[in-house]
Amino acid sequence: MTSKPLVVGLILVYFIIAVHLTLKIDGVDSFRSSVSRWKRQIPFFSSWWGSSSTNKPDNVRRSSYHGSSKQGHSSNSYVSFLPDKLPSYQNRSTSTNNGKGVSERDSRFLSLFTLVKFDNSECLSTSGDNGTCFPQAECYRRGGAVNGRCAKGYGACCVFSKTCGASTNQNGTYFTHNGLTNPGGSFDGTGSCQLTVYKCSPDVCQLRLDFDSFVLAQPSINGICNNDQFIVSGASTAVPIICGVNTGNHMYIDVGVDNSPVTISMVTSGPTYSRSWKIKITQIKCRDLGKAPEGCLQYYRGVSGVIRSYNFDFTSGQQLSNQDYTSCVRVERNFCGIRYTACNDNVQFSNIQPTTTQRSRAFFLTGQGQTGSVTGANQCPTDWITIPCATNSGRTQQSGGAVCQDRICGDVFNSETSTNPSPVYSYVKPFRIHYHTDGNETGDTGNRGYCLNYIQQPCSIIR
Ligand SMILES: *[C@@H]1O[C@H](CO)[C@@H](O)[C@H](O)[C@H]1NC(C)=O
Ligand SMILES: *[C@@H]1O[C@H](CO)[C@@H](O)[C@H](O)[C@H]1NC(C)=O
Ligand SMILES: *[C@@H]1O[C@H](CO)[C@@H](O)[C@H](O)[C@H]1NC(C)=O
Ligand SMILES: *[C@@H]1O[C@H](CO)[C@@H](O)[C@H](O)[C@H]1NC(C)=O
Repeated sequence: MTSKPLVVGLILVYFIIAVHLTLKIDGVDSFRSSVSRWKRQIPFFSSWWGSSSTNKPDNVRRSSYHGSSKQGHSSNSYVSFLPDKLPSYQNRSTSTNNGKGVSERDSRFLSLFTLVKFDNSECLSTSGDNGTCFPQAECYRRGGAVNGRCAKGYGACCVFSKTCGASTNQNGTYFTHNGLTNPGGSFDGTGSCQLTVYKCSPDVCQLRLDFDSFVLAQPSINGICNNDQFIVSGASTAVPIICGVNTGNHMYIDVGVDNSPVTISMVTSGPTYSRSWKIKITQIKCRDLGKAPEGCLQYYRGVSGVIRSYNFDFTSGQQLSNQDYTSCVRVERNFCGIRYTACNDNVQFSNIQPTTTQRSRAFFLTGQGQTGSVTGANQCPTDWITIPCATNSGRTQQSGGAVCQDRICGDVFNSETSTNPSPVYSYVKPFRIHYHTDGNETGDTGNRGYCLNYIQQPCSIIR
């Protein structure tokens, strides 16, 4: 006959071994092997563990893991051994371990611990940044900072932030000028501040950069980023060099199928300037539905939205030279066309153009030298946007009977020659705007690039 203290002592030993092994679980890939090793080594656990649980909260699964069972997205989940907190626990304890040497009164002791699995999903940290939900130890191991809880309190909201000279292989890393733990301040050095981004998984094909904040020096009068430059190298498609203010904008970068890293650099030089940036880097799997089509530097979803060229700003922005990129809009279900209008510009300019026309600065590609909207390849040889088969009417012909236009430039947004802006329609899928500028802004002062509102057009509209 075993005495009660001996049974309790044995259980304690099991727990110490189990906790020790849990701490050794070091990644998603080793999860299954660790679990089966664990079950082999602690046979008593496998039966206790194999019992079913009920009342699972969202994204948090209790310990019903069987080595062979498939629970959907279990490849993206973790185990931790944590003090039990879930209110539904009592329902499980009575059904466990019958005839396995643990009596029911001992199950009260087991309830001190439970095994929890949760998705490594995005979480909102206490500081307002987005993190990933990990067990606390896993977060530290990956070089993150614990900032709040997630998964009903079982996980730590893990925020990754890196600054000059660092590298990362973590999804959702923030690249900042000074690190998230030291907010504020500015970067006034000269040189190159760069982050090397390694794929967090081999099946990553794309990065999305969210410019939560992006303040670099403005380009030269010619639109050339000759003091400050944002440079992406190692991408599989060409990424233009940008500078100026791009807060709130975003960028997609194709990274190809090999495992070479991408380097994101902030090159700063010239006069003193109060620079700052905070760029969130999300890694996107090749087969992720959220992946942008190849070659789309900007990608917008939703029936309506706003598309801005880089460094667009009504008051202080300036068109960047040597740009060549495509902005794409996902064709939403049951939509066949798209309507673009220049953004509202409350701050109409009066000193550059004749005050009688009071044009908007929301579309200003070849200003001053041009008057009004200009269309066609011959008329727009330097800076332009391309909207496939653009018309004001929404039909394939312009009002005068001419065929639709692809190329638009000038300082008024209109697919016909005019001094007044007009909505412009395109019924060519996919919905794309290509933007081209050359390296010469001589005589072109005042150019800002463009800001266009888009609204997708239902297929039912008779054209
Ligand atoms: C236990 O399960 C019963 C039904 O099976 C349910 O009504 C009850 O709410 C559960 N108790 C807890 C604490 O979750
Ligand atoms: C990175 O995180 C985002 C947001 O949580 C997620 O949608 C994406 O699938 C993750 N990427 C990878 C490669 O896991
Ligand atoms: C966090 O993620 C959510 C959902 O993806 C997004 O709407 C939100 O803007 C993000 N917040 C930050 C601070 O990035
Ligand atoms: C730049 O544009 C101006 C005005 O159009 C032109 O006179 C000049 O030759 C151009 N310079 C170069 C290098 O193309």
